[in-house]
Amino acid sequence: MSSSQYPLRQSGIFRNLPSFDPALKGLKAIVCGATGISGFHVIKALLDTPDRWSKIYALSRSPLSKEILAFLTEEQRSRIQHISIDFSSSGEQIAKSLKDAGASADYVFYYAYISPKAGKNLLEDFCQENSETDWSIVMPTAIVGATQYPSMNMFLSFGVYTAVQAHKKEPLRFGGDWAPWQFNAGHSTAQLTDYLSEWAALEEQCKNQRFNAQDGGLLSWDRFYHKLAHESKYQVMDFAGRKDAPLGHGPPLNLRLSYPLVKWSEEPSTTKAWEEMMAQSNGQLQKNLFAGNSQDVFMGNFSFLPFGTFSTNKTRRFGFCGCVDTLESIFEMYQQIEKLGMLPPMKVDAARPLI
Ligand SMILES: NC(=O)c1ccc[n+]([C@@H]2O[C@H](COP(=O)([O-])OP(=O)(O)OC[C@H]3O[C@@H](n4cnc5c(N)ncnc54)[C@H](OP(=O)(O)O)[C@@H]3O)[C@@H](O)[C@H]2O)c1
Repeated sequence: MSSSQYPLRQSGIFRNLPSFDPALKGLKAIVCGATGISGFHVIKALLDTPDRWSKIYALSRSPLSKEILAFLTEEQRSRIQHISIDFSSSGEQIAKSLKDAGASADYVFYYAYISPKAGKNLLEDFCQENSETDWSIVMPTAIVGATQYPSMNMFLSFGVYTAVQAHKKEPLRFGGDWAPWQFNAGHSTAQLTDYLSEWAALEEQCKNQRFNAQDGGLLSWDRFYHKLAHESKYQVMDFAGRKDAPLGHGPPLNLRLSYPLVKWSEEPSTTKAWEEMMAQSNGQLQKNLFAGNSQDVFMGNFSFLPFGTFSTNKTRRFGFCGCVDTLESIFEMYQQIEKLGMLPPMKVDAARPLI
C-alpha cells in the first residue's frame, strides 16, 4: 500500500518523511558505493526504520571506516555486511564475490562512481530485458553530507577556509559578484536524497521514473557566509562595492535590458495593434491598457534582476506544506484577466505544469 496512506514522520532534522505499511519488513538491500557520500547515507536512511531492512550488503573496494560506522548504533551496524568488490573487474568475478558472501537482495541501490561503458541507458535496457526488474533514478544537485572521504562535499572547503582565515586573523572574502551573492540555489542533503531513494524504490507508482532531489528551501551565498561567520564566531568580512551596493556591501546591481517592455509599449505600431484587437474582439477586450502610464502596466521586466528569492524554510518548518505550480497559477490568473476584459481568450484549456 502506498505511503500516502500513512502519516508523515520526522527523523531528526528530516521532516515530513514518508512512512510505509508496517507489514513491509525484513527486506534485503545491496548498496553499491557504500563508503561514498550517497551510498553511506542510503545505508543510514534504510537503517533508520528498525524492521524494514533486515540486511544491507555494503559494496565498495575499501571497507567502511570505524569512524563512519560510529555514526550508527550497534544494532544498526549488526544489519550491515561489507563485501569488498571492484566493479571494474569481470561480471563473473563480481558474481562470485556476491555468491561467496551469500548476498541476495530485494532492492539494489547503485551509487558507485564509475560510468557505465556501454551507454547511458544500461539500467533501463537491463530492466526491459528482465521484466521482473524495475528501476528508478534519483538526481541530486551538489550533495551535502559527511563521509569517510573529504571529496564530493562542496561545502567542506568553505568550512576549512573560514577556520584558516580566522586562524590567520584575515577577513572572510566572498569570491563572486552580486549575482551569486544573493542567488538562491538548491542543495541536496545526502540523507534526504536517500530517504527519497528508499521511497522511490518502495512506491509502486515510482517504478521506472526519475526524480530530482532537493532539500526544500533554497540557499543564497550571503546566508551561507553569515552562517560561516556565526558558527566560527569569526565575524570579520570584507566585500567590494560597499556604498554603491544595495545592502552597503557587495557590487552594485545593474538591470541590463536589451529591449525594455516600456519602450515596446510606447511604439506606435504596438498601440495601434491593441486598438485593432479591441475593435475586432466583439467586446471581449474592454480596456485600453496603453492609454495610461505605461510604466505602471509594463514594468514587469524589473523582475529580470537577479536579486534572489525568498526562503520557504520557516513556513515549511512551522508545518505548512502547501505548494502551487506557478505555471498553473499564472494560467488561472490569465483566465481571470480574460474575464476582466484585458486579455483575449486562452487558446488551450490547461497549463503545462512545471514537472
Ligand atoms: N557528490 C555529488 O555532489 C553528486 C551530485 C550529483 C550526482 N552524483 C552522483 O551520485 C553517484 C555517486 O556519487 P558520490 O558522490 O556518492 O560518490 P563518492 O562519494 O565518490 O563515492 C563513490 C563510491 O563508489 C565506490 N567505488 C568507486 N569505484 C569503485 C569500483 N571500481 N568498485 C567498487 N566500488 C567503487 C567508492 O568506494 P571505494 O573507493 O572504496 O571503492 C565509494 O563508495 C554518482 O553517479 C554521481 O554522479 C553525485
